[in-house]
Amino acid sequence: MATSNIVPELEVPLSIVEKGWKSSHLTQYQGFWLPIEFLSGVMACRERFEACKDDIMLNTTPKSGTTWLKALTFTISNRTRHDFHNHPLLTTNPHALVPNLKLDQYADDKVPDLTNLPSPRLFCSHFPYELLPTSIIESNCRIIYLCRNPKDAFVSLWHFSNNFLPEDEPPVPIEEAFELFHGGISIFGPFWEHLLGYWKASLERPERVLFMKYEELKEDPTFHLKRLAEFLGFPFSIEEERQGLVEKIERFCSFESLMSLEVNKSGKIGVLGKAMPNKNFFRRGIVGDWKNHLTAEMSEKLDQLSQQKLEAFGLTFKDVGK
Ligand code: A3P
Repeated sequence: MATSNIVPELEVPLSIVEKGWKSSHLTQYQGFWLPIEFLSGVMACRERFEACKDDIMLNTTPKSGTTWLKALTFTISNRTRHDFHNHPLLTTNPHALVPNLKLDQYADDKVPDLTNLPSPRLFCSHFPYELLPTSIIESNCRIIYLCRNPKDAFVSLWHFSNNFLPEDEPPVPIEEAFELFHGGISIFGPFWEHLLGYWKASLERPERVLFMKYEELKEDPTFHLKRLAEFLGFPFSIEEERQGLVEKIERFCSFESLMSLEVNKSGKIGVLGKAMPNKNFFRRGIVGDWKNHLTAEMSEKLDQLSQQKLEAFGLTFKDVGK
C-alpha cells in the first residue's frame, strides 16, 4: 500500500510503501525507490562526496553480484600488494574491503574522512546513475556497473529481504513481492530504469562506464576479468596471463571459494543498521534459479516488461532459460 506523506525537514512529498517488502519502507525520490532511512544521506552524499579522477565506483542493482564484483575488483587492482596465501579476502568479507558510500556519515553537515584510503580508492553504491553524487560525473572517474537478469535478481532479492524480518514473522509471499517489483517498487528501483541509466551512460562514455552482466561473467569469467582489468587501468601482462593469474583470480573469487571461507560462514556485517550474517550474501550463485520459484505467468510478465523497456535500447538478457 502506498500513502502520500510529507517529511517536514525535507519539505518534499513522499510516497511511503508500508507493506510488501516489509524489510524496509521505501520512498520515491526523483523517480527511484529508496529506503526512507537512506534519503537524507543520499541527498547529502550527492552534494558532498568528493570523487577523485582515480576513484573506481562500483554500482549495481541489489542482488546482482555486488559481493562478487567487489572481490574481483579488489583482487585485480591490489594484485601486486597481496599474494593469495596472505590475502585480505581470506579473512574479510568483500563488503568490508570495498566500502559502500557511507550515507550515515553525512548527517549534520559532516563529511567522512576518506583521504587515507589506499589508491585507487574503491567505492560501491546502489545509486541509480541519475542520482550519483555530482563529483562522480564531474571527476570523470571510472564507473563499473554490474546487473543481472530481472528474474534471478528478483528471486535473490526476495530471499534476501526475508532475512530482515523478525524471526517470528512469516516470509513475504512471493506473489506480493512480485507485484511490487513488477510495478517498479523495489529497493533502488524501478529495476529497469536503474539498468537503463547506466546502459545509456556506457554507450555515451564507454571509456568511463563499463556495463557488465552477471550471466556473461558466469559464462566466460576469463574474458570478462581481462576486460575488467583493462578498464581499471591494470591490464594483465603477457607474463601474468602465461602464469595463469587470470584463472587463479577467477577461482579465488568464485562463489564456491568465497562461501567456504570461515569469515563468510560465520562472520557478520552491518546492513541497514542490522548485523547481517555474511553467509546471506552467498545463496546459490547460479543463473536460472528463478525457474524454481516463478510461475510461468510471472516469468512471462517479466519477459514482456523487459522487452518493452529495454530492448528498444539494445539491452537484452539471453540464455536465462524460458
Ligand atoms: P543468489 O541469491 O541468486 O544465489 P549481491 O552480492 O549483489 O548481494 O548479490 C548476491 C547474489 O550473488 C546471490 O545470488 C549470491 O549467491 C550471488 N553471489 C555471491 N557471491 C558470488 C560469487 N562469488 N560468484 C557468483 N555469484 C555470487
